[in-house]
Amino acid sequence: TDDLFKNIVSHAKEYGFVFQSSEIYDGLSAVYDYGQLGAELKNNLKTYWWKSMVQLNENIVGIDSAIFMHPTIWKASGHVDGFNDPMIDNKDSKKRYRADQLIEDKIDRYEKDGKSDKAAQLQKDLDDALNADDLPRLKTIIEEHNIVCPVSGTKNWTEVRQFNLMFATQMGAMADGAEQVYLRPETAQGIFVNFLNVQKTGRMKIPFGIAQIGKAFRNEVIARQFIMRMREFEQMELQFFVRPGTELEWYEKWKETRLKWHLALGSDPAKYRYHDHVKLAHYANAAVDIEYDFPFGFKEVEGIHSRTDFDLKQHQEFSKKKMQYFDPEINQNYIPYVVETSVGLDRLFLTVFANSLVHEDLSTEDKQDSRVVLKFHPAIAPVKAAIFPLTKKDGLPEKAREIMNKLKLDFNMQYDEKDAIGKRYRRQDAIGTPYCITVDHQTLEDNTVTIRHRDSMEQERVAIDQLRSIIGDLVSW
Ligand code: GAP
Repeated sequence: TDDLFKNIVSHAKEYGFVFQSSEIYDGLSAVYDYGQLGAELKNNLKTYWWKSMVQLNENIVGIDSAIFMHPTIWKASGHVDGFNDPMIDNKDSKKRYRADQLIEDKIDRYEKDGKSDKAAQLQKDLDDALNADDLPRLKTIIEEHNIVCPVSGTKNWTEVRQFNLMFATQMGAMADGAEQVYLRPETAQGIFVNFLNVQKTGRMKIPFGIAQIGKAFRNEVIARQFIMRMREFEQMELQFFVRPGTELEWYEKWKETRLKWHLALGSDPAKYRYHDHVKLAHYANAAVDIEYDFPFGFKEVEGIHSRTDFDLKQHQEFSKKKMQYFDPEINQNYIPYVVETSVGLDRLFLTVFANSLVHEDLSTEDKQDSRVVLKFHPAIAPVKAAIFPLTKKDGLPEKAREIMNKLKLDFNMQYDEKDAIGKRYRRQDAIGTPYCITVDHQTLEDNTVTIRHRDSMEQERVAIDQLRSIIGDLVSW
């Protein structure tokens, strides 16, 4: 499984999907850049989310709020005081770790060694300590289980301390009189503080939702596993406002809807599961994760939370502005309850990548052969069709470009005339292009081309006039 994960990381780099940030300066930890194909894939994933969440639902609208917000917002939301990770330092290596993560790793170790009872007991102890915010207890657990620093190999630990995950910076040109502001750690608060703006200007009636896609920032203590845990990442969040008392019904509905959404991308259902939260966040009365079976085990991709009226109530208190909604159906004013769905775009990217990357053995009796394919759902494939002139002469390149110039208005296309056709097919397989179109001498006579399907590798001869509808049928939702 380590190899599988290494393959994903190296394939993502080799084909221009994901690069380490600031690579020529030896990188910046837990920050990544999306390359030419990664940016396309990411945009397609955003479109899929936006279409299905916003445009297909009459009662959901989308906004784009700023990353900087009034600092009091993070007081009200509980992030200034409560958005912490328990952290511990090793005095020899001077390395900092998340205390809970060190213990989780030990649990994994016990599992791998077949000590399931020990693993279960330790998991319970960890959950209890986290639930009680008992930092000394975390330290004791680390000592009792002989957990050593992965770098120095020693047990010379500091106390466990809370570490706030928000990045802070100064707003204003002058240091004095400047105000400390934060980079938002979630996009949700931008929706809460605009709740009434949107409700009034959009004449929205409860139940209704506000969605947004945007960057979020967290100073993660440990950063690892590629784009799983980043310091700068992107979220796609929905806050769905409902009448108090109906929130658990809506919670169940969204829980189901969101899993279906993931499966519609063509992923294997066995790779997904729900994981109910044991420790509820300060704002929630129910919470579940949708987890994906990554090469390194089941991990959260999306969270669905019943956030009650916590956030709006807090903003009403801190801003002194009423956050109420008048419900004409029952003639009552109330602060709405909120059900949230929150998916990390980068983690979604990783699930799609892990799910699509396939090494296929194509060997026959007389010939060894294989290929690497990214079997993306055609709708999210970065390149929809590639076009190849069979040779670089006889007017074939010109004809290929003429066809491409028409199709590229509707689809992201690539033109390739280098190397043998077989090699060109392999290059497109490796980036997940569903169709390859070849222009040959017959094309000049009868205006037909061959079109080759990525997954079956079958080819058929079709009229140029049909290309738009053939590609369109497959790559649309
Ligand atoms: N507004 C609720 C919220 O932010 P969360 O569970 O902290 O909830 C939601 O985050 C989603 O954001 C996660 O399910 C995950 O996909 C993504 N996410 C959180 N932290 C992340 C990080 N450091 N790197 C990448 N994605 C992250």
